[in-house]
Amino acid sequence: MNQILRKFLPALLGSLAWGACAAQTPPTAASIRFPKGFLLGTSTAAYQVEGGYQADGKGESNWDFMANKIGVTQFTIGKKETGNVADNMYDRTTYRKDIALMKQLGVNSYRFSIAWSRIMPQGTGAVNAKAVAHYDQLITDLKAAGIEPIVTLYHFDMPQALIEKGGWANPASADWYTAYAEVIFKQYGQKAKKFITFNEPYIEFFVQHYLMNLEQSKAAPTVRYAAGMTGAHHMLLASARAVAAYHRLKLPGQIGITLNLGPCLPFDPKNPADVAAAPWQDVLLNKLFLDGALRGSYPKQALDSLQKYNPTFKRTAPEMALLAANKPDFLGVNFYAPAMVKADPTSPFGVNWLGLNPDSAPTSSTGPHRPEQLYALLMRIKADYQNPTVMITENGAAYGDVDEKMVNGKINDANRCRSLMEHLAAVQRAVAEGSKTIGYMHWSYADNFEWIFGYTVKLGLVNVDRATQKRTPKQSYYVYQSILKQQPK
Ligand code: FCB
Repeated sequence: MNQILRKFLPALLGSLAWGACAAQTPPTAASIRFPKGFLLGTSTAAYQVEGGYQADGKGESNWDFMANKIGVTQFTIGKKETGNVADNMYDRTTYRKDIALMKQLGVNSYRFSIAWSRIMPQGTGAVNAKAVAHYDQLITDLKAAGIEPIVTLYHFDMPQALIEKGGWANPASADWYTAYAEVIFKQYGQKAKKFITFNEPYIEFFVQHYLMNLEQSKAAPTVRYAAGMTGAHHMLLASARAVAAYHRLKLPGQIGITLNLGPCLPFDPKNPADVAAAPWQDVLLNKLFLDGALRGSYPKQALDSLQKYNPTFKRTAPEMALLAANKPDFLGVNFYAPAMVKADPTSPFGVNWLGLNPDSAPTSSTGPHRPEQLYALLMRIKADYQNPTVMITENGAAYGDVDEKMVNGKINDANRCRSLMEHLAAVQRAVAEGSKTIGYMHWSYADNFEWIFGYTVKLGLVNVDRATQKRTPKQSYYVYQSILKQQPK
């Protein structure tokens, strides 16, 4: 399994992404400007940064379970690593220093996620007052620093007690989640103004589950893959119900959902099989979720194919009406790179993009560097989905040792600096051409627990010494700082 994961997961990383080829003249930091009020921030997720995995009565999550129980025996996460300590950001003394560093950076917003297993340790029922107070304090502390909290309710971490009841494959999962979401809205709905229901359903159901179940299942790749549609549908229903609850409570903000999206390009444009594979991959990766979330329908081609290999998957007319009636107020977009698609008979539905990166060194493990594809993606969303409000909720890069070496206490991550500037310039261009993009959150504030890669893959603007928790801002932090300084106040 490890080998399989290593083969495919270089892309999983960032849910990795999509894109286009860019600006003729490389942008300079000085040329990057956004309209007044544009949100510029950083992004993290609970399991990746919090640590404190048993603090204040926290329940076990699927990732606590995987890292501590099966991660060490059945496959290896990074160098046998867990998120038990991570960046220690559950600890207020630590996170206040991080907020101070973010303030110095000059961001006006910060996307983080709440661990469901802290708020409701068993997933349903009793609410843990200490955890509720913790996030309340975090929101207060962020606002006191002039940083707008952007709160994700679910970022890959489900309470393990619910996984044992079938997780997202159980139709009751939408009820469990809605009850949790209502707790969050009642507690924080007046204080925080931006919420995100879910992070990257495609990655959770069609990449993580598919890859992790590879060895346990004898079923064909397409069958294993199509099985993911059941959970993905329940998650989209849960999202729509949370949106409905949020609107019913008449809260003073907006709620969105985050999808991992990106143009699908043929890996070899001269190979007709790759050229034919790219649009089909686009349906599976982008259209399925964009249509589901923003149109309340699924593309027929995807639905027919998924149902053929997952005959028990059903969606009812009332469910689809629910999706159509409760669209998110904004679309969160995680973009890392375009999908470079190959026709591959051994992959689900004969198409594959995971881990395929034609760039020559230095390469980012998040995929090929194509910032112009972020521009292309934003223009497509504008044209095809009635110009919805969009927030870039993740974008970043991980070039490995070439970028991460500390020399005399300094880290010159030149490739990340370039990536940051060129992606910001792509967003700037899309905004200038009418895309209703309202913000950009860089992934990530600091190096953290990068899922199956543990701490071996680094995406932070800030380096974290694993032994001492010391933070060292990288060159990219200072580049972002100079960009943030010149934004209209
Ligand atoms: C995304 C995830 C995020 C992080 C980045 C690199 O897929 O949402 O948690 O792992 O990739």
